[in-house]
Amino acid sequence: MEGYNRDPAGPAALLRNDGLTERRCFIPGSDSILIWSCPSVSRLRLTVAVPGSTIRSVTVLVVGATGATGRLLVRQLLHRGLTVKVVVRSPDKLPGDVRSHSNLSVIQASVLDLSDAEMAHHVNGCDAAASCLGHNLNLKGIYGPPRMLVTGATRRLCHAIKANKPDKPVRFVLMNTAGNSNRDITEKVSFGQRCVMALIRLLVPPQLDNERAADYLRVKIGQNDGAIEWAAVRPDSLIDESEVTQYEVYSSPIRSALFNAGKTSRINVANFMADLITDDDKWGKWRGQMPVIYNKASS
Ligand SMILES: NC(=O)c1ccc[n+]([C@@H]2O[C@H](COP(=O)([O-])OP(=O)(O)OC[C@H]3O[C@@H](n4cnc5c(N)ncnc54)[C@H](OP(=O)(O)O)[C@@H]3O)[C@@H](O)[C@H]2O)c1
Repeated sequence: MEGYNRDPAGPAALLRNDGLTERRCFIPGSDSILIWSCPSVSRLRLTVAVPGSTIRSVTVLVVGATGATGRLLVRQLLHRGLTVKVVVRSPDKLPGDVRSHSNLSVIQASVLDLSDAEMAHHVNGCDAAASCLGHNLNLKGIYGPPRMLVTGATRRLCHAIKANKPDKPVRFVLMNTAGNSNRDITEKVSFGQRCVMALIRLLVPPQLDNERAADYLRVKIGQNDGAIEWAAVRPDSLIDESEVTQYEVYSSPIRSALFNAGKTSRINVANFMADLITDDDKWGKWRGQMPVIYNKASS
């Protein structure tokens, strides 16, 4: 949090180091400053700060930040001028531009090894938390401990948020999968898909982990929690692309994740998750839901 007072050093002292997305200057003939940023090509955000006012930057804690999607999410949040904390096992895996960013703080730990007190300390003051955790796709990652990585981290983060008794609800954005159903609403799943999913649930533990993580938010946090509001983002088959492209978001899958899977690029998932954190209208539309995201060409 920064207090703004007219200072001989001028507003340059308040300029963020990422400079790309947020700039500030004195309004000629006044002591107020104008802050402007461009969160996306089509949006311009303007803020006027008068002397004595408080300029508060949004802080987000990200877990799974070294993953293929997590690192893209962190980069997009930093580019939007947010302050980002990451809990990572191997900071070296973060891309150089992200690792060296002045608005990033790195907590080196395996997320489930943090004590409750450490977890509460790290989420304290955060406006949002996001999880892009996933099991590493090797034998150890899929069948070894922790079998309930995503569920465990979701539960522990939520406990930590609640323990801090935040003034206003913290946004929790979970990366989930189109292979999971939102059981709060009626989603049509064919008999064939239900049978195969039951088998996958038995044979591939990460599926059950993803389902339980979303169930925790749906059932234990629910729709009226004073400390946490949540959204579980469901991409279909993940692909890698270098640029954000057009994508579509639905409240339920519009195709079978098993027999007619669509494509979703990780960078689009990151873009949508960042939007949920920074865009109040999008958050109002999707909070408490499990939006399904497809690249436009695949829907
Ligand atoms: N593959 C698909 O087509 C698909 C489709 C829809 C949804 N999803 C879901 O999307 C999510 C993320 O996908 P992704 O490809 O971006 O994931 P990813 O690249 O595999 O990244 C996984 C992240 O989880 C961390 N992690 C793994 N095991 C951990 C452990 N034991 N303790 C702490 N951290 C751990 C990794 O940290 P390290 O870097 O330290 O290993 C990494 O940051 C997953 O939940 C997946 O189920 C996948």
